[in-house]
Amino acid sequence: MKLLVCGGAGFIGSNFVRHRVRDHGDEVVVLDKLTYAGRRENLQDLDVELVHGAIEDPDAVAQAIAGCDAIVNFAAETHVDRSIHGPKDFVDTNVTGTLTLLEAAREHALARYVQISTDEVYGSIEEGSFTEESPLQPSSPYSASKAGGDLLVSSYTHTHGLETVICRGSNNYGPYQYPEKLIPLMVLNALHGDRLPVYGDGMNVRNWLYVEDFARGISHALTHGAPGEVYNVGGPDEAPNLEVVRTIIELTGTDESLIEWVTDRPGHDRRYSLGSEKIRALGWEAQVRFTDGLARTVDWYRENTWWWQPIRSGEYRAYYERHYGRSLG
Ligand code: NAD
Ligand code: DAU
Repeated sequence: MKLLVCGGAGFIGSNFVRHRVRDHGDEVVVLDKLTYAGRRENLQDLDVELVHGAIEDPDAVAQAIAGCDAIVNFAAETHVDRSIHGPKDFVDTNVTGTLTLLEAAREHALARYVQISTDEVYGSIEEGSFTEESPLQPSSPYSASKAGGDLLVSSYTHTHGLETVICRGSNNYGPYQYPEKLIPLMVLNALHGDRLPVYGDGMNVRNWLYVEDFARGISHALTHGAPGEVYNVGGPDEAPNLEVVRTIIELTGTDESLIEWVTDRPGHDRRYSLGSEKIRALGWEAQVRFTDGLARTVDWYRENTWWWQPIRSGEYRAYYERHYGRSLG
């Protein structure tokens, strides 16, 4: 199979490309805008073609799509906090970009279009778990733009008969995650003795999914998913943020005095939880429990200073100061 992987230079995309090249022997073309979150380094160990361009640019898409059998679209603006202060990029990429890809997939009569989406399109849930039939109630500009993308994808199946599948994942963690997100931010700050900024009361709950498990789930949906269907891919464990931070403190041998209580995120969703029975029926099962995956992740960041050192000394410092009102050590 020759796959076009959009956003393949980002966190989940690059882990997925590694899985497809190594475990399935696929030929892969990556189309990526290489924003702050997309990095050539994430793919440097792999033999893939990288087209530098935006998914909302029809010419870049036409160049990348030639000869491909299927699209898997990871390309997105992904950070909720950034969407609160700068929502336009989120609509340009997550809505207009998705539409541009769908048009190209239709014109080239591709066999498959897989859209990577998120549990955040369902909003927050106090008890129980979301199913694929739960209503879409996104609460941030990020999740609203992802929901918009999902609705366009479904419309192309209904209107044009395009064979689409949507995979909605819960919170991912693992190697190559940009340190604006909770786990890599806390790990790198702990390793540097920097403060650990916990929002609100620290009791917001996330449903943690090791990135390699998500990559395998997406592969199942790509191969076995029924056209027009949505598949939730949830992690095996849930945890409140404070518990996650305390485990990172233990794993890095640091101290609770590093915890700093900071102003809550506006509109902060309290809890996410995904029911994944439908993808399990296709033969997928999460293999990595949160305690193991978190220990592996801390080890990866400890051992791969080459990966994060240029980030911690670049644009990220300015973002961090702007967002947290203090500099990194
Ligand atoms: P990321 O921010 O690490 O990577 C996003 C990638 O998309 C980067 O390589 C970036 O350069 C690229 N990109 C951004 N705008 C683009 C554009 N206009 N054209 C082409 N490329 C562009 O994101 P991630 O965490 O790897 O998330 C990947 C996908 O998975 C997203 O669609 C996200 O909504 C979804 N998702 C993420 C999580 C999570 O926990 N991180 C969970 C569920 C779903
Ligand atoms: O649920 C899937 C989603 O998970 C993806 O769709 C998003 O792309 C991804 O960014 C992620 O969204 P969250 O908002 O859940 O992830 P984030 O890592 O930003 O935050 C996780 C939790 O940690 C959340 O409750 C906010 C809290 N947090 C986050 C940061 C960055 C803190 O307490 N302190 C922080 O500094």
